Amino acid sequence: LNRAPQGDFMRPASRSRAHSNAKTNGVGVQVEETRICVVMVGLPARGKSLIAQKVVRYLGWLSITAKCFNVGNYRRTSTPQPSAAFFDTSNKEGERLRMAAAEAAVKDMCNWFRKPDNLIAILDATNSTKARRRWIKDRCDAEGIETLFVESKCDDEELIMANIKEVKTTSPDYKGQDPEEAARDFRERIRMYERVYETLDEDEADMTYCKIIDVGSQVIINRIQDYLQSRVVYYLMNLHIKPRSIWISRHGESMYNLSGQIGGDANLSSRGEQYAKLLPEMVKKSAGDLPLTVWTSTLKRTAQTARYLPYEKLSWKALDELDSGVCDGLTYAEIEAQYPQDFKARDEDKYNYRYLGGESYRDVVIRLEPIIMELERSENILIVTHQAVLRCIYAYFMGSSQEQSPWMEVPLHCLIKLTPRAYKTEEERMFADVPAVSTWRGKGTKAEHAPTPAQSVAPSPMIKPEIKVT
Ligand code: ADP
Ligand code: F6P
Ligand code: PEP
Repeated sequence: LNRAPQGDFMRPASRSRAHSNAKTNGVGVQVEETRICVVMVGLPARGKSLIAQKVVRYLGWLSITAKCFNVGNYRRTSTPQPSAAFFDTSNKEGERLRMAAAEAAVKDMCNWFRKPDNLIAILDATNSTKARRRWIKDRCDAEGIETLFVESKCDDEELIMANIKEVKTTSPDYKGQDPEEAARDFRERIRMYERVYETLDEDEADMTYCKIIDVGSQVIINRIQDYLQSRVVYYLMNLHIKPRSIWISRHGESMYNLSGQIGGDANLSSRGEQYAKLLPEMVKKSAGDLPLTVWTSTLKRTAQTARYLPYEKLSWKALDELDSGVCDGLTYAEIEAQYPQDFKARDEDKYNYRYLGGESYRDVVIRLEPIIMELERSENILIVTHQAVLRCIYAYFMGSSQEQSPWMEVPLHCLIKLTPRAYKTEEERMFADVPAVSTWRGKGTKAEHAPTPAQSVAPSPMIKPEIKVT
């Protein structure tokens, strides 16, 4: 085989900005030299911080460097535990300290933007008056930074009280305080803000904004200008806050897994078939009677694994396993023997390494983006897919780094439940008591074909939960 030099089969790193004015990045398109400050707007407990963190995680997953600047954190350096009176606008000292916190955050943000890779900052604060927003816009304009104002407006008292109980009583602002008292004080704090709050309106028609009303039941967008802005807005439009979980599982053990071959479109082994038969019971035990939709890839082994599940099913080409190109059908040992340079290059940068005629993890993330968007829109979903694809989906929810995610252990015959909560995703792993080979390969090694945890744990009970929260 004629081998291209390494540089040709390694996808160029996304961060080679020094050499050009436009760059290709994780979103698979040319992103101009736009720097955007996403300015959150809204009364306290409207989900601004949650939205900000999700946007940072989503963009990071797409290799777009984003960072959140939370003004509350800056304010805490001078005033760690303010009572509601601190936020009364007639409190001169409070006003001075709050303005100082906003100044410090904006200053740090402007400095952060000096690094060429840093593209999107989120200024997470209430920014609840027109004067404050104009001040931020002027500061950003002077630095050549675009502004995108994102307002969350919601007047559902019950929801706001639930939000306060869920996240505010455990805020560092109320550390060591009685939760009931904290909730009362926070409600009072909101009242202080309500006195001066001005929603985005026609006075700000010159500004770029997205106004999310009642958790997305209405969205107003104004002057969205470029690709990245519309991408962020589209993501925001797909978010919801209904409680739900996402279950992910690899297909049951396949004939290729048994022989240590990668890729292909093999049938399940008899143990894989046993896993398929147990899966409905495992899912039922975890999800109860919740309505569920099952997503599979177009490959036989995922459809065979899902076939006994009594739910609506949808198969997605985008969920097919990472394409290993010329290495499809080989074992790791054969790849090492036949393509030693590639084998080494993959270990050195597994996320970016693209198989000859195939894909890299980075490529898989790009094709999974519509899946993530659809997942955000959906409620309870069970995804039966493949090792590399599952790692990429997991990385989105857990915010795992590109260095770590391609090496993550996802054993066969294991059902993973992910439950998004405010600011974190909870994870639970359930192992079926059906042995399977391990397809995990450590850096610098060949495949081990070691037993999965299902073989190493006590055989009963059938499901062994293991709870981990990140
Ligand atoms: P803020 O930053 O506005 O003070 P947080 O992000 O700390 O508020 O609040 C998180 C809570 O807001 C969570 O309970 C979450 O379910 C809820 N939430 C998320 N998005 C919205 C929204 N668009 N409107 C109202 N509440 C929301
Ligand atoms: O071995 C199972 C498998 O899904 C292969 O089809 C695929 O190439 C491989 O895992 C992906 O894992 P890794 O990126 O660790 O080689
Ligand atoms: C805060 O001090 O917690 C805060 C969010 O400040 P601001 O009202 O300036 O957003």
